[in-house]
Amino acid sequence: MISKSIQSCKEAIYRDLQQCRRGTFKLFADIAYDTFCRQAHPDFSPVGWHLGHIAYTEDLWLLQRCAGLQPVFPEYHKLFAADILPKQERVYLPALAEVECYLDAVRNKVLDYLEVAPIDQQERLWRFIIQHESQHCETVAFVLQMQRNRRGGEGENRRGGETVTNAQFSILNDRMIEIPAGEFDMGSDAVEALDNERSRHLCYLETYSIDRYPVTCSQYRNFMTTGGYQNSQWWSADGWKWLQSHPVDRPLYWSENPAFNARPVCGVSWYEAEAYCNFRGQRLPTEAEWEKAASWDAKNQIKSTYPWGEEPPNSLLCNHGNHMGNTALVDGFPKGKSATGCCDMLGNVWEWTASIFDAYPGFESYPYRGYSQIYFDGEHRVLKGGSWATPPQTLRSSFRNWYHPGVRQIIAGFRCAS
Ligand code: AVJ
Ligand code: FE
Repeated sequence: MISKSIQSCKEAIYRDLQQCRRGTFKLFADIAYDTFCRQAHPDFSPVGWHLGHIAYTEDLWLLQRCAGLQPVFPEYHKLFAADILPKQERVYLPALAEVECYLDAVRNKVLDYLEVAPIDQQERLWRFIIQHESQHCETVAFVLQMQRNRRGGEGENRRGGETVTNAQFSILNDRMIEIPAGEFDMGSDAVEALDNERSRHLCYLETYSIDRYPVTCSQYRNFMTTGGYQNSQWWSADGWKWLQSHPVDRPLYWSENPAFNARPVCGVSWYEAEAYCNFRGQRLPTEAEWEKAASWDAKNQIKSTYPWGEEPPNSLLCNHGNHMGNTALVDGFPKGKSATGCCDMLGNVWEWTASIFDAYPGFESYPYRGYSQIYFDGEHRVLKGGSWATPPQTLRSSFRNWYHPGVRQIIAGFRCAS
């Protein structure tokens, strides 16, 4: 790397670190201490823990491992480490101002170190740290949404109600998009690609069809009102077993407000998504099918980073970064469509895929086994695309998220394939 590009690489990292951090602090503006410390659900840590863990991780990898410094605030180690305390013991937290102080103290040293760091050898790690924070931001956003829902608030869009026109209902009957058989480039070798996205490799797919839009609340209501949750015929054996032990009859983030009709269904487990697909006589796309539809321009044999090309995400291209604080109309971002014509592939809601989370050929753990590798256990399903809460740094067609199929607290919907 020549020195000019080292400088511009450092400037880009500085900009992304600070941009991501502004989003983090915004999530915590005016938060009550009770909300900060409370576990909204036994599977998720309190939002205040996530905040401290962001600083802890930045301190560990950049200051201790790279710069060789002593930990900032070592008394926080046990509390904010990824794997020491069980989640229910993460509720005894310092005040927000103290945790913010911890973030600032770490960040000030990190920015000093950035000036002298050998970035040509460390760029991937710095990019990892930014994305680590970005992913915890998303978790904070949906845990806060769970807490708001518990207090009775329906998921109102902060920008207020769009009116639903008849035109928007035509989405219901919109035809699927057929993707012709052929190879495409799956995964990514870009410096920001996480270990599980590597290596980029050729993947051949037979012809398939995929929904132009994510499944909307209106479409899903059809399943609900025709006994979808009562009729075992739509459910796989595992899905039905899950439903019996988690009796539900609607998505977690469901709203009867008509403004949601043409928004994606959100807050469904993988099993509910699977049952809806069966109900329609279809299936979930594999992650390869999803990624090809989102990123492959067959005519020019080009894979794009984003469905729309290479321009970084902005509010006209997709609903992301907590700008709206909720789901948006599935046809609200025509500029963001992919070369294949699929809409709303990034942002709005994560989309469950049929695929079990597994390693690509040539996989190597980075920066630690616990980031991806320990989840290659056959028990996690891949989600693609990002949500309204996903910061721009983790929004791209090759990004892979993963959760247990029974999780419905995340901001997840799906689209069908056949
Ligand atoms: C990829 C979102 C499932 O939040 O558990 C954060 C990301 N890994 N810190 C998670 C992660 C370590 C991970 N997900
Ligand atoms: Fe983490």
